[in-house]
Amino acid sequence: MIQKINSLEEYQAAYQKSVAQPEAFWADQAESFTWRKKWDNVLEWNFREPSIKWFQGGKLNITENCLDRHLNERGDETALIWEANDPEEHFRKFTYRELYTKVCQFANVLKNNGAKKGDRICIYMPMVPELAIAVLACARIGAIHSVVFGGFSAQSIADRIQDAQCSMVITSDGGYRGTKEIQLKSVIDDALVQCPSVKRVIVLTRSRTPVSMIKGRDVWWEDEIKKVETLGMTECAAEEMDAEDMLFILYTSGSTGKPKGVVHTCGGYMVYSAYTFQNVFQYNPGEVHFCTADIGWITGHSYIVYGPLLSGATSLMFEGIPTWPDAGRFWDIVDKYKVNILYTAPTAIRSLMSFGLDPLKGKELSSLTKLGSVGEPINEEAWHWYDEHIGKKQCPITDTWWQTETGGIMIAPIAGITPTKPGYATLPLPGIQPILVDENGKEVQGNGVSGNLCIKFPWPGMLRTTYGDHERCRLNYFSTYENLYFTGDGCLRDEDGYYRITGRVDDVLNVSGHRIGTAEVENAINMYSDVIESAVVGYPHAVKGQGIYAFVICTPHLNDEELTRKDILMTVSRIIGPIAKPDKIQFVSGLPKTRSGKIMRRILRKIAEGDVSNLGDTSTLLDPQVVEEIKSGALLSV
Ligand code: WTA
Repeated sequence: MIQKINSLEEYQAAYQKSVAQPEAFWADQAESFTWRKKWDNVLEWNFREPSIKWFQGGKLNITENCLDRHLNERGDETALIWEANDPEEHFRKFTYRELYTKVCQFANVLKNNGAKKGDRICIYMPMVPELAIAVLACARIGAIHSVVFGGFSAQSIADRIQDAQCSMVITSDGGYRGTKEIQLKSVIDDALVQCPSVKRVIVLTRSRTPVSMIKGRDVWWEDEIKKVETLGMTECAAEEMDAEDMLFILYTSGSTGKPKGVVHTCGGYMVYSAYTFQNVFQYNPGEVHFCTADIGWITGHSYIVYGPLLSGATSLMFEGIPTWPDAGRFWDIVDKYKVNILYTAPTAIRSLMSFGLDPLKGKELSSLTKLGSVGEPINEEAWHWYDEHIGKKQCPITDTWWQTETGGIMIAPIAGITPTKPGYATLPLPGIQPILVDENGKEVQGNGVSGNLCIKFPWPGMLRTTYGDHERCRLNYFSTYENLYFTGDGCLRDEDGYYRITGRVDDVLNVSGHRIGTAEVENAINMYSDVIESAVVGYPHAVKGQGIYAFVICTPHLNDEELTRKDILMTVSRIIGPIAKPDKIQFVSGLPKTRSGKIMRRILRKIAEGDVSNLGDTSTLLDPQVVEEIKSGALLSV
């Protein structure tokens, strides 16, 4: 088994060992998994290229570790529980054995449809069990999954499919979120107009909304399952993978316009997602783990699918939203399935807080033992509300800082062991060596200091490259500061050596825990016919954490502002997806630019924040007058 940390002393000892002898430390953890062949070399790395190789020469299949190896010991225990969007719809449960069978079946479907090791497969599905099954089936046959969140537009999907040259798409006819029905297949149809690489689309029946099915390209999930059943194909031998073979690609936003495909590999990701799951949440066998994220994000990959299943845990997935049919939905689910570990985002907590305590009436919540938070800084008010009203002051809260690129949790309290402080991710996990640097890349030493957060030594779960463009990976993460992985986050290390993440220092926004690049939103706004130029910044938002504020210059003949605003929103929805829609659009006649033509975002950020008293030095601006105009037209109410 993975070495479990049981006390603060053990944490310190593990941490020290992980720094003094990282290879021995991670080899010990890796020993607990099933390898077809053990590795020859634990770690080989440099951050210059970068080249990071963990467990080289090791052979494995992650699904043998998620499924096969549990069959003898816990084949009849529940692996996955699914709660539908509609509370009236019956839940579904899968034991490890059942999940194993489903994954094998669908893996055979993939093979029958021409998929093979190394192929990229795009998955665009609602939060139904088949999504987890599809992910695992890809991994079983060695195909690289690229899950795209169900809220992204056809254009975003097309970009991602083209970037990875996917040969197959797995989707469903439709899906449900609250009162809304989402037409997933129809979005895929629009996307595929631009994607000649896709030869096959497998469509799951979920809402049975009418869909187009193109002969020779589109097939129904259920029909394909029947075919493999008829052929008696119940088992599917797992493909043997090298530890450094790609496991998946997950697209995420950066400071440039185009999302990048973060690549994770089989061996290191497996060890790291399981290690962090078991230790951070202090997982005990038999516990029910409810991570409220969508599998379309890294949190769902690591802490709904891989981490829990690698650990033999019971993972609960929920199709719906926290506020439908009412704001007590999470709490009903907790009581219904006796959830022990609840892992959610500050934005959900803040949104539920705004409904007051009524939705908590009659809810027991007594099964809960540990609470987690992820995705954005948690403000103290939300932290205390979570602690008092959900955890009843009996459940440790673990505020987990990490990123798509890190594969798993990096800085977080070990639940119930590391003393917590509201708003602090506290201390780095074993194996993680954070360092703060100033603008010039000089290390900021000691405590009671702030800086840009970097990591100076590799860990098994880190990204290896960005798909199809290794140079981009180097430039983005490894070139800002020499020999360091740069996170893009600002951070404070207080007098006790505790870490507090203060937010992104680049042009990446965190809206309701979703990462969105300002450049991406600007590009989408600029697609609108009447827009000449735009600049997008974030501003503090009571529920979303950050809201999106767009300053837009339109052509002079504009007459109906309100309609134009709506058109722009629709354009952004079409180009990226509804999650990227600006909360505020201010029409301006010019943007504050330096003489060299650079937009001074610092000024726009201050205006968006409502802090116009001290805009700093504006003398270098091409046209200082424009600042006055923008100030006077600022949209300040939330
Ligand atoms: C932010 C989500 C403060 C941070 C797992 C990071 C956080 C970005 C926290 C990654 C936290 C995540 N406290 N900020 N506990 N967790 N972040 O890739 O800015 O969707 O860089 O991964 O979210 O977002 P991503």
